[in-house]
Amino acid sequence: MAERSFNKDYVFDLLRGAARFTGSDLLSALAETVAEFPDAPIDNAFNHKQVASKQWARDMLATHTRGTFDHVWVMGGWIGILPAMLFDDARFNIKTISSFDIDPAVAPIAEKLNQKLAGEATFTAHTADMYALDYAGPDAPDLVINTSCEHIEDLPKWLSLLPRGCRVMLQSNNYTSEPTHVNCVESVDELAQQAALSELTYAGAFRLPKYTRFMLIGRV
Ligand SMILES: C[S@@+](CC[C@H](N)C(=O)[O-])C[C@H]1O[C@@H](n2cnc3c(N)ncnc32)[C@H](O)[C@@H]1O
Repeated sequence: MAERSFNKDYVFDLLRGAARFTGSDLLSALAETVAEFPDAPIDNAFNHKQVASKQWARDMLATHTRGTFDHVWVMGGWIGILPAMLFDDARFNIKTISSFDIDPAVAPIAEKLNQKLAGEATFTAHTADMYALDYAGPDAPDLVINTSCEHIEDLPKWLSLLPRGCRVMLQSNNYTSEPTHVNCVESVDELAQQAALSELTYAGAFRLPKYTRFMLIGRV
C-alpha cells in the first residue's frame, strides 16, 4: 500500500468529532480504522459516490428482501464498507458476514472496521479469489453480494459456481476509464443479459456525476 501524505491526527480527530456529534458507531469505527491503518484507501472506499452506491444497495436490499440472513458473503469486499453499513442498519438481521478479496492488504483493515460494528454477529475477512471458493459447503451463503462485477473478467463463469437458487445482489458500472475495470457494462440490460438470473427481483440504474452504476437483485 502506498504511503500517503496527510495528517493522521487531523483526520482521526475530525472523524471522532463527527462520530460524537452524529452518534454514529460507523464514523467512530472509521476513526479507529484510520488511526490504525493511516495508509489504507479509506477516503476512496468511503467517498460520497461509494457511500451513495452502497446506500442504494442497502435500501434496495431492505425493500426487496426480508433483510434477515444467516450467512452473507461479499465478493471483492475491499475494506469492508458495505458490511459496516449493513451492521449499522436496524432493517437487517444478519448472523455472519464474510468478505473475500484477492488483495491480501485489505482483510486486516476490513476486520478492524467491522470488529465492534458486528456486535453479536460475526464478521470475517478472507484473502481469496472469488473463482476459487466453495459456495455450497458448510455455512453456505444465503446471500452473495458482488458490487465489484466490473473488476472480474468473466461474470457468467463466476455465477456458474454458485448453487442454483442462491440469492445474489450484483453491481457493475460504465466507468471505463478506470484501468482496473476490466468488465464494464453500458446498461442494466447488458448486466442482466450477462448474469442471466433465474429470478430477477430488482433491476435498476443509479446516475452519479461521472458514471452510472447498475444493480440486480435476484437468484442464480
Ligand atoms: C475497488 S474494489 C471495490 C469496487 C466496487 N465498485 C465496490 O465499491 O464495491 C474491487 C475489489 O475487487 C477485488 N477483486 C478483484 N478481482 C477479484 C477476485 N477474482 N476475487 C476476489 N476479489 C477480487 C480487488 O482486489 C478490489 O479490492
